[in-house]
Amino acid sequence: MQITAAVARERFGRFTLETLDLADPRSDELLVRIVASGMCQTDQHGRDGYYDTPLPAVFGHEGAGVVEAVGASVTKFAPGDHVVISYPWCGTCANCRRRMEAHCQNSFPLKMHGTRADGSTLMRDAGGAPVYSAFFQQSSFATHAIANERFAVKVRNDAPLELLGPFACSGQTGAGAVFNTMQPRPGDAIAVFGVGAVGLSGLMAARIAGCDPIIAIDIHAPRLALARELGATHTIDHTGRADVVAEVRRITGAGVRFSLETSAQASVFREAVEALMPAGTCVLLGSARAGTEVKLDMPFLQFGRVVRGTIQGESHPPEFIPRLVDLLMQGGMPVERMMTFYPFADINRAAQDSTNGTAIKPVLRMPG
Ligand SMILES: NC(=O)c1ccc[n+]([C@@H]2O[C@H](COP(=O)([O-])OP(=O)(O)OC[C@H]3O[C@@H](n4cnc5c(N)ncnc54)[C@H](O)[C@@H]3O)[C@@H](O)[C@H]2O)c1
Ligand SMILES: [Zn+2]
Ligand SMILES: [Zn+2]
Repeated sequence: MQITAAVARERFGRFTLETLDLADPRSDELLVRIVASGMCQTDQHGRDGYYDTPLPAVFGHEGAGVVEAVGASVTKFAPGDHVVISYPWCGTCANCRRRMEAHCQNSFPLKMHGTRADGSTLMRDAGGAPVYSAFFQQSSFATHAIANERFAVKVRNDAPLELLGPFACSGQTGAGAVFNTMQPRPGDAIAVFGVGAVGLSGLMAARIAGCDPIIAIDIHAPRLALARELGATHTIDHTGRADVVAEVRRITGAGVRFSLETSAQASVFREAVEALMPAGTCVLLGSARAGTEVKLDMPFLQFGRVVRGTIQGESHPPEFIPRLVDLLMQGGMPVERMMTFYPFADINRAAQDSTNGTAIKPVLRMPG
């Protein structure tokens, strides 16, 4: 069928809206009319060659929409279902077999190669040339996408779909790091380093879990103000400050039980570790470029401190995304507070606003 998609044809170039031909869904696939798609740093990083995704390509991995058609063997979805398309996993590696799908050992090509697992692409341009188009097995910067039934998550149809796409990446990454990885108890102190879409999602989860204090650290004053409205008990503007760890200790005494690192800066990651109390845990979410190293003090770690990374909040999406949607509907996760909406045609403005920090979570509304 004919669709409109945002095609990236050059590294660091602009997205251009083109009419493409989308393949029919295979037996285990869904055709999804995308209602809205969040934009994440990884989309632009993909375009810019961080992961060697070939071009031309259609990016986007925070898609939410309505199922229009299902393949012959699909039993869990029907046309009209509302879905969020989550990240892909292989289902057979040692981690997938333990239900650690977020740490699937074969996920990289499924996310980044722009093809199905068998190497096929889903879209063709007006000249009939293939367009790499299964980015994160969805390519949601388009009016329609093909999703494998395994990675689509059915969501309640009374929830506003245009708010749900970011649960597929930044939302479940931040909230999952708290609910699934940290599992804090009420009264546990937490510091969130970087309050963009991922950090704010973690912060909202920390508030729901009853963490106290909740310390938000960033370099953008408006983000810190929003963090306070969303549950931070304290904020620290990192701009020009070398005493952030001392300030966290002044607030908490012994340091925090948990810290969340989302800035992707090595020096900030080190602070997130140094802010821990004995037996505290720092969870690293920020994506640094390969080769980035951090120096840590051995005796400091010896006192039971844990430093670990997570991917996609270690969530099992079919269970976790509906839980986040319920929290949204109950008022506990007001994700719309961090969103800026753009018509699909303004995708380049959305990308620019994301890069310069004026939009925390750009969301593209698809026409129709
Ligand atoms: N682990 C995963 O599975 C996963 C998934 C999605 C995103 N990510 C990564 O998580 C990170 C956060 O994503 P995001 O969408 O929230 O991005 P973002 O850029 O909006 O958030 C990062 C925040 O860190 C702040 N920051 C920068 N320098 C700082 C400093 N010196 N001190 C304090 N704060 C500082 C920025 O102002 C910003 O608010 C990115 O690196 C992204 O690639 C990881
Ligand atoms: Zn993402
Ligand atoms: Zn796997």
